[in-house]
Amino acid sequence: MGTKGRQIVGMDVDELLDILNQAFADEWLAYYQYWIGAKIVKGPMKDAVASELLLHATEELAHADLLAMRIIQLGGTPLNNPEEWFKHTHCGYDTPSEPFVKLILAQNIKGEQCAIDVYQKLLKLVRDADPVTYNIVLTILQQEVEHEEDLQALDEDLNSLMMRNVN
Ligand SMILES: [Fe+2]
Ligand SMILES: [Fe+2]
Repeated sequence: MGTKGRQIVGMDVDELLDILNQAFADEWLAYYQYWIGAKIVKGPMKDAVASELLLHATEELAHADLLAMRIIQLGGTPLNNPEEWFKHTHCGYDTPSEPFVKLILAQNIKGEQCAIDVYQKLLKLVRDADPVTYNIVLTILQQEVEHEEDLQALDEDLNSLMMRNVN
């Protein structure tokens, strides 16, 4: 580990690197959960849902990229083996074993709510200590909030569609 990062951050850099690597693991798992969800989703509105899931997947991967760059800037190493993702993840991975569109949406909504919680806590932690990380985390958090809203909106559309069909 270099000393470069230690001089520019007003907190324990190893602690910050651990938290950033947790978030990095979360992003890769979120990426895959969205990506595979988009492939297998079934039911009403599946095309609209699949394209939203695929868009979110792309954005989670971009979050992983932002986190990896910051980890390297701080003198750390982004987790370099996928096996490590499960050891470090905070939000985990929810296997989409049932492809029905409502269940896929519910799993991903839960994941976004976890991510929002993680990034809100991280934002508070780095607010005064590390403005560069703060800025990155704020950017990511804003997108996670949008993701959660987009999924909720799709779920509501789906509910009204399903209501119409039974009436
Ligand atoms: Fe993300
Ligand atoms: Fe997200």
